[in-house]
Amino acid sequence: MPVRQLPETIVNRIAAGEVVERPASVVKELVENAIDAGASRIDIFSDGGGRRKIVIADDGSGMTAADLALAVDRHATSKLDDEDLLQIRTLGFRGEALPSIGAVARLSITTRHATEPHAWSLRVEGGDKTPIAPAALTQGTRVEVADLFFATPARLKFLKTDRTEAEAIREVVRRLAMARPDVAFTLAGEERAPVTWAAALPGAPGQLIRLGDILGADFRANAIEVRAEREGVIVEGFAAAPSLTKANALGQYLFVNGRPVRDKLILGAVRAAYSDYLPRDRHPVVALFVTLDAREVDANVHPAKTEVRFRNSGLVRALIVHALKDGLAREGRRTAANSASSVISTFRPASMPPANWDWRSSPSYPVGGSAAPSFTERAQAAFDVGAPSADIRPTEVTPDLLDRPLGAARTQIHETYIVSQTRDGLIVIDQHAAHERIVYERLKASLDANGVQRQILLIPDIVEMD
Ligand SMILES: Nc1ncnc2c1ncn2[C@@H]1O[C@H](COP(=O)(O)OP(=O)(O)O)[C@@H](O)[C@H]1O
Ligand SMILES: [Mg+2]
Repeated sequence: MPVRQLPETIVNRIAAGEVVERPASVVKELVENAIDAGASRIDIFSDGGGRRKIVIADDGSGMTAADLALAVDRHATSKLDDEDLLQIRTLGFRGEALPSIGAVARLSITTRHATEPHAWSLRVEGGDKTPIAPAALTQGTRVEVADLFFATPARLKFLKTDRTEAEAIREVVRRLAMARPDVAFTLAGEERAPVTWAAALPGAPGQLIRLGDILGADFRANAIEVRAEREGVIVEGFAAAPSLTKANALGQYLFVNGRPVRDKLILGAVRAAYSDYLPRDRHPVVALFVTLDAREVDANVHPAKTEVRFRNSGLVRALIVHALKDGLAREGRRTAANSASSVISTFRPASMPPANWDWRSSPSYPVGGSAAPSFTERAQAAFDVGAPSADIRPTEVTPDLLDRPLGAARTQIHETYIVSQTRDGLIVIDQHAAHERIVYERLKASLDANGVQRQILLIPDIVEMD
């Protein structure tokens, strides 16, 4: 066969193979376009797992008639003004989404630009473009995609059930919504109750509200604010305390310059930071936002733009580990100091016993003999108090012992648990686990100080391997 230039429709279908992998990719591209258009509100609807229909409406800038006519052409974009691929500040820049979607589905766009007397609309079906025509719309852009992959039936066979595809759409919207708490989102269709995330203020408080909306109240209650900055790279966001974990890494949301990414480098850094806090089979829940000069990161690695490459990946990794470890250590100190006291204060009687108070004179102390039994006595009779084996008054304790992270050891129970006293609480320690931790910390310290210790055998020992 002779070499020939492929026709435009085939070229677009080939590109669509990379850009539009499944319905969720369409939603991702269209919501990104709405965000790039400066929308403050984005409404998303999907039906049949997005295969039957996807509708995205925004209140962004809209397009003029001329822009609309060009927007569905291959490599047509308004986002690379100086043709500098190193200065990307928008989510899109490849000019591939609309032509790709138009090549494999029935695409219709209605849009209204402020300078136009009315809206315009245009359809592209399986790569065939209609002329633009006047239409009705007050503001922004409305994009409708029907019968996805009708023009490339082979792709249809790779789709999962409607439910799975709908879940992938949700996940895409969740990620983009986390990155932009200042934009309101609604997600409807698929026979589920619609979700609305109201616009929140930019900055950390708004961010936490949006993250709580999406990741749940559990995350909000356990979230630790983290932040680190060096050489123009900022890592900030929220990380759940080690008490909230998942069985997989799907609870880790990562963003680079506002772009949701799945990045091995960042995932590895998160794992490293939590390694001292979590067992191997548990994964933390985090939402981390990396901000850096656009020239320090290459977003043009993957057609779907879900991967990035950092110029100084060592610095980014170190900052993430530092930010997380710092936040976790701060939280550790705070809970050690507070949780005991906040829990205990719920049980504390309104008036504190005087300093010379003796538990033997307490009304709950069992009195034997002829005294009429009361409720307290019956409850107390369940165990024999006998003579106290440890009777420590707060005044007798060396104060600096009380201020140690695990308090002052007081007694041992079942030869397994150490009970210790802090300034206003008590701590029960599994001494076996504590010992393992001490040995582990000692090994780590010695590894840091001296590296791995080794010694050559006097007589070589030969080991056969299969
Ligand atoms: N929702 C929208 N609102 C305003 N303009 C849009 C919208 N969607 C697309 N456009 C315009 O169409 C162009 C092409 O979009 P697309 O094919 O996704 O490529 P890219 O986003 O990479 O530029 C965009 O550059 C933008 O100018
Ligand atoms: Mg785009």
